[in-house]
Amino acid sequence: MRVLVTGGAGFIGANFVLRTLATRPDAQLTVLDKFTYAANPSTLQPVADRIRVVRGDIADAATVDPLVAESDLVVNFAAESHNDNSLADPSAFVQTNLVGTYTLLEAVRRHDVRLHHISTDEVYGDLDLDDPTRFTEETAYNPSSPYSSTKAGSDMLVRAWVRSFGIAATISNCSNNYGPYQHIEKFIPRQITNVLTGVRPKLYGDGRNVRDWIHVDDHNDAVWAVVDRGRIGETYLIGADGEVDNRTVVEAILTALGQPADAFDFVTDRAGHDRRYAIDSHRLRTELGWRPAYTDFASGLAATIAWYRENRDWWAPHKEGVEAAYARTQQILD
Ligand code: NAD
Ligand code: TYD
Repeated sequence: MRVLVTGGAGFIGANFVLRTLATRPDAQLTVLDKFTYAANPSTLQPVADRIRVVRGDIADAATVDPLVAESDLVVNFAAESHNDNSLADPSAFVQTNLVGTYTLLEAVRRHDVRLHHISTDEVYGDLDLDDPTRFTEETAYNPSSPYSSTKAGSDMLVRAWVRSFGIAATISNCSNNYGPYQHIEKFIPRQITNVLTGVRPKLYGDGRNVRDWIHVDDHNDAVWAVVDRGRIGETYLIGADGEVDNRTVVEAILTALGQPADAFDFVTDRAGHDRRYAIDSHRLRTELGWRPAYTDFASGLAATIAWYRENRDWWAPHKEGVEAAYARTQQILD
């Protein structure tokens, strides 16, 4: 099977490449990636002789078209993915998440190639902390940020291309991922690398916002389950029952690294900050038989902390720049 992995040099896409090489000897992988600031070229270096890597933009039809034409499957991970950046400047989010997805859809339509589109639970907006419900495939879209609204728009484009043009596509909406190779602008790796560099972790708002954490390998195994066994035109929610509030995560990181659990700062809250996400992955589990392997967040987090500790070369050159950018917009609160 010839697989085009768009965004395959980013966090989840690169883990997908590494896991697919380890588990699917029949897959021939081509990565199409623009190598924005979010890509780390060193991630795929160890497997460079086993894959083809093309540097290019999913919004560029001339690049996309021949790569799609020679593929059996496209898995679209390429996106601008960070909420804070989308608040500072939404333009790249509109361009990549909307125009880029449109460009891929037109190519898969022209060449009749199967597409799996990777999306997020953030398209559903947020839940109150005490809301007994969770997101399902039937929950109405209600995105809050430029990031989540452009992801929501990209999902709508995929659904319309299935219905109007009969393309063979599926969508998955996953909760927050953690694991190795995640950019240090994101919450968990930012706080781990803060502690490892002697900087106090930074919590937005009251620190009680809840995210539903899933290990990146569990996400990618679910993606393969949808590709192998999912129904064309369907959406599958991916989640591992991993709800934890941000303050608890920070305290766990501090404790694991031998620091006092309260050695963190509260900083200016994110505008429009979603309170809580929570996924009901019943359809994925019952229809496709998927189960998460990482059911204990504490041990998954410990393995992730160990990875960042042991792979300083991967992130250390970027640390100062990421923190300087945050410092321009975030003030420490008393
Ligand atoms: P990431 O920011 O780490 O990686 C995105 C990759 O896409 C980067 O390698 C970047 O260079 C590439 N890219 C950006 N614009 C491109 C373009 N125009 N053309 C080609 N490549 C481009 O993001 P991630 O965390 O790996 O997320 C991957 C996908 O999963 C995204 O669609 C995101 O919405 C979705 N998702 C992420 C999470 C999460 O917790 N990180 C959860 C659910 C869904
Ligand atoms: P993030 O990793 O940006 O993911 P998302 O916004 O897609 O959920 O943030 C996860 C949570 O952590 C979110 O509630 C915002 C919060 N957060 C902090 O408290 N401090 C930080 O330094 C960052 C980056 C995020």
